[in-house]
Amino acid sequence: MIVAGNWKMQKTCGEARSWVEDLLAASGPISAKVRLRVYPSFVALETVARSANGSRLEVGAQNLHPERSGAFTGEVSAPMILDAGVERVLIGHSERRHLFGEDDAFLAKKVRAALDSGLLPLFCIGEDLAEREAGRTNEVLTRQIERGLGGLTPVDAARLEVAYEPVWAIGTGKVASTEQVAEAHAEIRETLGRLWGAPGRAVPLLYGGSVKASNAGEILVLPAVDGVLVGGASLDVPGFLAIAEQAEKCA
Ligand code: PGA
Repeated sequence: MIVAGNWKMQKTCGEARSWVEDLLAASGPISAKVRLRVYPSFVALETVARSANGSRLEVGAQNLHPERSGAFTGEVSAPMILDAGVERVLIGHSERRHLFGEDDAFLAKKVRAALDSGLLPLFCIGEDLAEREAGRTNEVLTRQIERGLGGLTPVDAARLEVAYEPVWAIGTGKVASTEQVAEAHAEIRETLGRLWGAPGRAVPLLYGGSVKASNAGEILVLPAVDGVLVGGASLDVPGFLAIAEQAEKCA
């Protein structure tokens, strides 16, 4: 059971360090069946990795550029992330897709670059409201998987995680119903199984979109859900730990 926080463009280095210290001081009651993870901004990455070093807290970057180095002003590469002491990365978050125009082909390059460098990607997919209302959810999810991940092998799949995050549920307070989550996760698992067989069906699937302590339990208890990706509710330690407590009950 994975409980992962995505801080987006929030927290200075000092705030990030305090969060880690407070979390580690208070996470004792959460057993090792629940994996705690955070994706800080690039600037706070090394600070968080140092503060979390040797602890249970897993750390990931929120993005990467597919090239290892070069003339790409403002970008960050896999070797830089690894050098900061971090071994995970989010790829294809809906804010990257929609606000920054990252398309399936570019995201596929990022996934390949992450895996080739030894980073563990959490690949995010999800439909927007118009796509859901048009009955195109499954088609969109399948397309995002096939175009973003289609070039991978079963060996790659063993190092991959996928997050289902309906765009209309992110930061809106609208959480997908348990039926919607169960149906989407079943569809995603089937597609991953079609691509890579057993390693595909074993890829951990997280749900994200307005997860908080009051709704995490009903989502985490679904058999097809292996964890949650949490934005707003991950920013304060008590809120994050309250979600971890729900995960503990379902683990
Ligand atoms: P939210 O964000 O929990 O604030 O909706 C989730 C995400 O974007 O990963």
